[in-house]
Amino acid sequence: MFDYIDGGAYEEATMRANVADLEDTLLNQVVMRDVSVRDQSCRILGQDLSMPVILGPVGLAGMFARRAEVQAARAAEGAGIPFVESTVSICGIEEVAGATSRPPWFQLYVMRDRGYAEDLIARASAVGSPVLVLTVDLAVVGARHRDTRNAMVGEGHGRWAGVRRGLDLLAHPGWIADVAVKGKPLTFGNLEDAVPGARRPDDFKEWVDSQFDPSVTWEDIAWVREHWKGPLVVKGILDPEDARRAAEAGADGVIVSNHGGRQLDSVPSTARVLPEIAEAVGDRVEVLADGGVRTGLDVVKLIALGADAVLIGRAWAWAVAAGGEEAVSRMLEGLRSDIDVALALTGRNAISDLDPSNLFGRDSED
Ligand SMILES: Cc1cc2nc3c(=O)[nH]c(=O)nc-3n(C[C@H](O)[C@H](O)[C@H](O)COP(=O)(O)O)c2cc1C
Repeated sequence: MFDYIDGGAYEEATMRANVADLEDTLLNQVVMRDVSVRDQSCRILGQDLSMPVILGPVGLAGMFARRAEVQAARAAEGAGIPFVESTVSICGIEEVAGATSRPPWFQLYVMRDRGYAEDLIARASAVGSPVLVLTVDLAVVGARHRDTRNAMVGEGHGRWAGVRRGLDLLAHPGWIADVAVKGKPLTFGNLEDAVPGARRPDDFKEWVDSQFDPSVTWEDIAWVREHWKGPLVVKGILDPEDARRAAEAGADGVIVSNHGGRQLDSVPSTARVLPEIAEAVGDRVEVLADGGVRTGLDVVKLIALGADAVLIGRAWAWAVAAGGEEAVSRMLEGLRSDIDVALALTGRNAISDLDPSNLFGRDSED
């Protein structure tokens, strides 16, 4: 599970670049401005957020901690920010919505079985999901070598893989008690109807693998639009022309994302491509971004580079794995306090004031 969260695709160069390029992006400190008012709130896709952070879709989270999607959604609600429920979550969307008063956003893959996808969209509507996130960078699956080594994917691992898995389990009695025993059922809550009788995530593998659809085109956005009337965001954009096409196809927002470096390796970091994409479509649609965000300073940097808000993946996955809802809440308060300090020392009173002039060495817009 640690490698599943921590790892990326191929040589993991893009995953590292997401973090490294944010580190190389420097803030421009200015002093002696009146920063007694510092407002982090923002409005994204019709939703009020207390800070420009969203818990992004993370598959299999309920394997990291007991009913982890519910725990994370509660922490998000407490912090006044949205939680995005992944299609491949352990807890189904109804369970997550039932545990919070703010229904989650819903992330959908374009599946081969369009009828099943339509049912999922209807389920998201029925629980009051305000935003649909359509992930489009998974037409095929990138190779994640750590998952192969850990016998999470692929075939023919031999009996030693099973022995290693068994020893690994025995070394983690806390996980057995919290997840394997008290965290049941360990199925994909949104996909149970597709694979009746499935009892473990592995039982869904064949069906899920058969659903990745390499034939998807921009025309499919129209199909989604027919079934989803609310705000629609397309996740997995790295190219300005793709961003324009998403806007033309009727998306209300794009998420500049390389899937946390988990799909095609050797593509640029999101910090690197974001300015050009924001320039191309920022006046027409909302521009969100993710990848490598570990601190509130990273959030401020991506916003100064052109994002309206930022999603986090691993940051909340690690927190929930380590300490459940409380740890996610504490991590979010950490981000909030980082953002507060960064606003003050870049001389800004509000998130909406941030622009490229807050970055060292960039052209000033003031
Ligand atoms: C363990 C894990 C599972 C993920 N599962 C999904 C998923 O089910 N759907 C999706 O659209 N993105 C998924 N992502 C990608 C995240 O939504 C996000 O784009 C990425 O994690 C951002 O990078 P960061 O982890 O550096 O914050 C996953 C990421 C991780 C780390």
